[in-house]
Amino acid sequence: MNDIFEQVRQTIAQVQQEQPNNTQELEAYRIQYLGSKSTIKSLMEGMREVPNERKKEFGQLVNSLKQQAEEKYQTLKAAFDAQAEAASAVQLDLTRTPEPASLGARHPVSITMNRIIRIFEKIGFVVADGPEVEHDWYNFTAMNTPEDHPARDMQDTFYVVDAPGLLLRTHTSNVQARVMTSRKPPIRIIAPGRVFRNETISARSHAQFHQIEGLYIDEGVSFADMKQTLYFFAQEMFGATKIRLRPSFFPFTEPSAEMDVWLGTETEETRRLTKGTGWLEILGCGMVDPQVLENCGIDSTQYSGFAFGMGIERQALRLFNIPDIRFLFENDVRFLSQFSQVIA
Ligand code: DAH
Repeated sequence: MNDIFEQVRQTIAQVQQEQPNNTQELEAYRIQYLGSKSTIKSLMEGMREVPNERKKEFGQLVNSLKQQAEEKYQTLKAAFDAQAEAASAVQLDLTRTPEPASLGARHPVSITMNRIIRIFEKIGFVVADGPEVEHDWYNFTAMNTPEDHPARDMQDTFYVVDAPGLLLRTHTSNVQARVMTSRKPPIRIIAPGRVFRNETISARSHAQFHQIEGLYIDEGVSFADMKQTLYFFAQEMFGATKIRLRPSFFPFTEPSAEMDVWLGTETEETRRLTKGTGWLEILGCGMVDPQVLENCGIDSTQYSGFAFGMGIERQALRLFNIPDIRFLFENDVRFLSQFSQVIA
């Protein structure tokens, strides 16, 4: 009977003498005293043999053993862990040249957009901005596309259910109305931004894309000014030697045109891009309809101007030889990181 008390006292003395010198020895110590088959466990099971009046005494003694064993373990473990950490820190070579930090890449749409902006900035255009969630009036009505006008069918969009009259803009032309209603001519702006259409998504089209709008209003601005400005752009952007203006229709310009640039038919790529014609369609343009000027509070007898708008994605696909427009919106890093070396 006294035996088991004696065994506990001896084990306490033993624990106090234990001196594990490293993590392996500490682990052996843990298994011996604290593990599931440890000395202490089996001593605790001895409780059964202890008569009731001494159970309390025995319990306290075993607890004290357990506590001492546990504390010793925790203290040594903390010390060994700290040693290990210090040792690995010493191995750090602080003189080594660091790995280059990996920088993000600009999105191909941003790269393309920036190139276009830079070209127009050279000839005095400044960047203007407008909202993506827009009032019907700026997107359509001011731009000479009143409700029930058939031209609205060409640009179906997403409407804000709880706010009648609010929609996702279908083109950057809303910025024309925004600028004309808030500034006085001369106006010479380009407006890049995201636009939306209610369209089925495919390899060639998407429900969201980007455009750049241009607007130039002053006294005596003519069709010839427009042509020369766009020709300059075509030269800078495509190295094109020729442009072609084809008659077209937009509600907000009169006359309206579509511009093609001459890429030629010499390479397989230009033949593919131009469907064998040598001409690549780039943008819509025209003289701002006097009614649009009046809608926006500009005297159409004093001022005239031209405007143009073009999609950016198609240029980005062409510039970087990207086969599917959806790559531009999936944000897959394996795709996007390929542009980290491109100067934006
Ligand atoms: N807003 C037209 C579109 O999305 C593009 C456009 C055509 C803009 C002619 C213009 C313009 O400013 O003059 O299809």
